[in-house]
Amino acid sequence: MAKKYTVAVLGCGNRGLSYTQEMCAKEDKYEIVALCDPNPAQLEKMKRVLSLQGVSEFTDPDEFLKQRRADLCIIASPDRVHVPEALRALALGYDILLEKPISDSREELEALVEAQKKYGGRIVICHVLRYAPAFVKCDELIKSGRIGKLYAIDANERVAYWHWAQAYVKGMWANMELSHPAILAKCCHDLDLLVGYADSECDTLSSIGSLDFFKKENAPAGAADRCCDCIHKDTCPYSAKRIYIDAWHEAGEPAFTWPWNKISLISPTVEENLIEGIKTHEFGRCAFKQRVDMIDHQMVQMTFKNGIHASLKMVFAATSGRRITFYGTYGEIVLDERMDEIQVLPFGEKGEVIRISDLIKGGIGHGGGDGAIVDALYGMLTGESDIRTSLAKSVECHRMGIAAEESRRMGGALVRVHQ
Ligand SMILES: NC(=O)c1ccc[n+]([C@@H]2O[C@H](COP(=O)([O-])OP(=O)(O)OC[C@H]3O[C@@H](n4cnc5c(N)ncnc54)[C@H](O)[C@@H]3O)[C@@H](O)[C@H]2O)c1
Repeated sequence: MAKKYTVAVLGCGNRGLSYTQEMCAKEDKYEIVALCDPNPAQLEKMKRVLSLQGVSEFTDPDEFLKQRRADLCIIASPDRVHVPEALRALALGYDILLEKPISDSREELEALVEAQKKYGGRIVICHVLRYAPAFVKCDELIKSGRIGKLYAIDANERVAYWHWAQAYVKGMWANMELSHPAILAKCCHDLDLLVGYADSECDTLSSIGSLDFFKKENAPAGAADRCCDCIHKDTCPYSAKRIYIDAWHEAGEPAFTWPWNKISLISPTVEENLIEGIKTHEFGRCAFKQRVDMIDHQMVQMTFKNGIHASLKMVFAATSGRRITFYGTYGEIVLDERMDEIQVLPFGEKGEVIRISDLIKGGIGHGGGDGAIVDALYGMLTGESDIRTSLAKSVECHRMGIAAEESRRMGGALVRVHQ
């Protein structure tokens, strides 16, 4: 019989729940045995949603990390504690599924790499898009030579306007004490994909970006501090009422899904709790009146060591969806999540369109990536397969994100990634 791995979860918020949900659906492979979150409501939510019984529970991460509680530790805590918690988990002998971003400090990245060498635990970084079928398909098409030799990539990460306002203006990712620069917090996925597609380390890059829109002076006249009290609550697209109540009704009142399960932790979701959420939760505050350490758009130009050039735009937009164009010497590929398609366009031929939704089997989180990383993790633990997002591979995009932020702060100066 195949080995079943016991799992301890450190950080039971949205991401912790996503991976444990995927693991509970593979109960012959994984068993959740311990949960830790400083917020007891998150523990209750996790137990209720997954019908977990007999698990050990902790509200103090320090206490939780005093001894090893399982074979594997999922670390899905806020950005700034990823490395300190991973270092302690490694020392306890865990294998780790670690949420991105790892860190915005070269020293912390190095400390984690060294600790892994010392203790030997395996670390898988949650760059889930490396496993999502559409992104895997593009990699296969490029490496098959279908468009000749890849020479340039144009990547666009379009974040839905309301998601940007939620996470990077009102939420913890707006605050650099809790989070990392947006180019890492949001786009380390994109930088990581570019490394994989280019199949090379990045040599130099430059970046520009700024916070232009989410400022007090751009608030609609007479805007209140909280959306529920605001005269613009039915018209402003950033209004929490429109995002968390009207859109929930329009979506058919889903039982307990993101983003509504962020504002009310009680399952199933009901309107009364959403109304309470917009009155009390940080996401119910005016998008224009927050302290925001972040930019609201950023662009990066890169040269890889093998000569491939790439650009990345991170913008807020009408709906979410990445669009990446791959330029080859004998053709072009366009991946467009919004259009649900991959266009394969060899020069001088008719070309074909592949539907992304036809490629996704099973779990849909991150285009199937959340389920696929949990499968790949099992393959790595059993030694049956290699992993695409080992610590060694995932450090590169973090070095690029750190360099991009340095360049942006220097007004777009050219920065060497490996210093
Ligand atoms: N892989 C992805 O695509 C992806 C997507 C979104 C978020 N993330 C990352 O996942 C992590 C978690 O994000 P989330 O959306 O689940 O946020 P969340 O706020 O829903 O959950 C974070 C949880 O961590 C808990 N927590 C606070 N301090 C802690 C500590 N010291 N130790 C352990 N837990 C602690 C909080 O109480 C909360 O329940 C973040 O680092 C985020 O950047 C990754």
